[in-house]
Amino acid sequence: MTLLIDRYGRVARDLRISVTDRCDLRCTYCMPEDGLDWIAPDQQLSFEEILKLSQVLVDLGIRSVRLTGGEPLMRPHLDQLVAGLSQLGLEDLSLTTNGTTLARHAKSLATAGLDRVNISLDSLNAHRFAEMTRRDALCKVLEGITAAQEAGLTPVKVNCVMIAGTNEDEILAFVQFARRTDCDVRFIENMPLGAGNTWNSQKVLSSAEILRRIDAAYPLVGMSRGSEPAASYSFVDGSPGRVGVISSVTEPFCEQCDRLRLTSDGFLRTCLFAHTETDLRTPLRAGASPEELAELICSAVALKGPGHAIGQPEFEQPVRLMSRIGG
Ligand code: 5AD
Ligand code: SF4
Repeated sequence: MTLLIDRYGRVARDLRISVTDRCDLRCTYCMPEDGLDWIAPDQQLSFEEILKLSQVLVDLGIRSVRLTGGEPLMRPHLDQLVAGLSQLGLEDLSLTTNGTTLARHAKSLATAGLDRVNISLDSLNAHRFAEMTRRDALCKVLEGITAAQEAGLTPVKVNCVMIAGTNEDEILAFVQFARRTDCDVRFIENMPLGAGNTWNSQKVLSSAEILRRIDAAYPLVGMSRGSEPAASYSFVDGSPGRVGVISSVTEPFCEQCDRLRLTSDGFLRTCLFAHTETDLRTPLRAGASPEELAELICSAVALKGPGHAIGQPEFEQPVRLMSRIGG
């Protein structure tokens, strides 16, 4: 029986859990220099609460979980949560991290049952990295990628948000990085989700253009695509590594969306761009039964909107920022 189904027939299978809105970087497209007013600790779900909700969601059909932030590794003892989640019988348990502290955590996360990691990295040039993230941490991230591979958190996926005019000159450097380190580099179109409303369509470099530039230098072969938003390619010359593009803006994949998001303060979001969210923390803390929580979740999913309208006149950026939603 399928319970997490919306009125467009989409079934939710994948859950993103944000465990904190805090971050040690300050990517310019995401956060202001001074950070944000962080969610207060008592508003944040405990690991026990996250596990309770996750169990309800798994019973409703969720099969994969990704932990996100902010920066999820800012949450102390994250491996304990991973250990709990790994008992739920998921098909896939992963983590999206900026990688700055991954070298220190990779082993214990793998031991706790984490399957793999996605690492956010927008520049391979130390100076540019520091400009884009307002922190000098490229070396740490590169160490984190190596540590993740050594710990078997593979395939390591590197997420690179392309900002037109800022890091687009590094596309081929990232492709060479993928070939050298045998990881998957995925280029993501820049979406309007950050602080300060600094996005505009001029800052989006289309996936089609990114692929054109890569293919001209390193001919690509398309790989089969599942429910994943990324279109993936390997290299005609048989080199290790893969590249992918996530066309969130130019070719939205809303019709195939199978995601749900749980924020660190316990709100369920059915879309990155939703203007409504469902408070699960209050009922959970008031002692709601798993059945009551399941009912709340199913009603929220049923009302999931068709998708975003980025670039259209009616588009409005959601009030909740990306760092508080989780990627
Ligand atoms: N557009 C596209 N991707 C973004 N991310 C953060 N903000 C944006 C944005 N405005 C990415 C991060 C990370 C993932 C969680 O989402 O770089 O890889
Ligand atoms: Fe931190 Fe990720 Fe936002 Fe960068 S994009 S400031 S790494 S939460």
